[in-house]
Amino acid sequence: METRVHEIADGVYRLSTFVPEVTPDGFTFNQFLIDADEPMLFHCGQRMLFPLVSEAVAKVMPVERLRWVGFGHVEADESGSMNQWLAAAPNATVVHGQTACDVSLNDLADRPPRALADGEVLDLGGKRMRWLDTPHVPHGWEAGCFYEEAAGTLFCGDLLTHVGDPAPITSADVLGAAVAADEMFGAMSLAPGSGAALRRLADLAPRTLALMHGSSYAGDGAAALKGLAEYCERRRAA
Ligand SMILES: [Fe+2]
Ligand SMILES: [Fe+2]
Repeated sequence: METRVHEIADGVYRLSTFVPEVTPDGFTFNQFLIDADEPMLFHCGQRMLFPLVSEAVAKVMPVERLRWVGFGHVEADESGSMNQWLAAAPNATVVHGQTACDVSLNDLADRPPRALADGEVLDLGGKRMRWLDTPHVPHGWEAGCFYEEAAGTLFCGDLLTHVGDPAPITSADVLGAAVAADEMFGAMSLAPGSGAALRRLADLAPRTLALMHGSSYAGDGAAALKGLAEYCERRRAA
């Protein structure tokens, strides 16, 4: 396995590891490195990926420069190697919404995490990351996303997950592939507020969607997110 590095937006690097054994078509696990005065890693990766992903970070900047380590919910691929990153980057702090900190991270993280309220901005110096609570979307009470407003990049984690080893970034339809993947995985929670949470993200009209599994998407992010909301509402109704 190798972790490939691709700049998908100005100062935003996608670190992608393709694992052929997951699903018949294989599966990518992507982290995003956000270069700023206070650099941030979004998604940690599983513990077993830490050697590869930290080597990929080091191609862009020294790992010790990392100041923030964030992710969308508490789960092995999102947060498994959290404490390895804290050990490798002595000035790094885990950052998440209040729910994850209260429920899990105050206990799981080796150093106290920084909790963000819904809508609060984390100023990285050169990039501003707005935290948005999305409880149960895609899954997990504590779930949320970051939105970098200047470039319009939504760090949307497992939303629009699709399989295979597609291009680092695409303008082609990702919704169809994401619906096919979710029909296989059933990973999206169908909570009463799922559709509304996705429509709230669509209202941001993001220009780039930084996806954890599959291609990042450059284009009409609102349409893709609304399509995902409709899919969730259809499934819930059924
Ligand atoms: Fe997940
Ligand atoms: Fe994931």
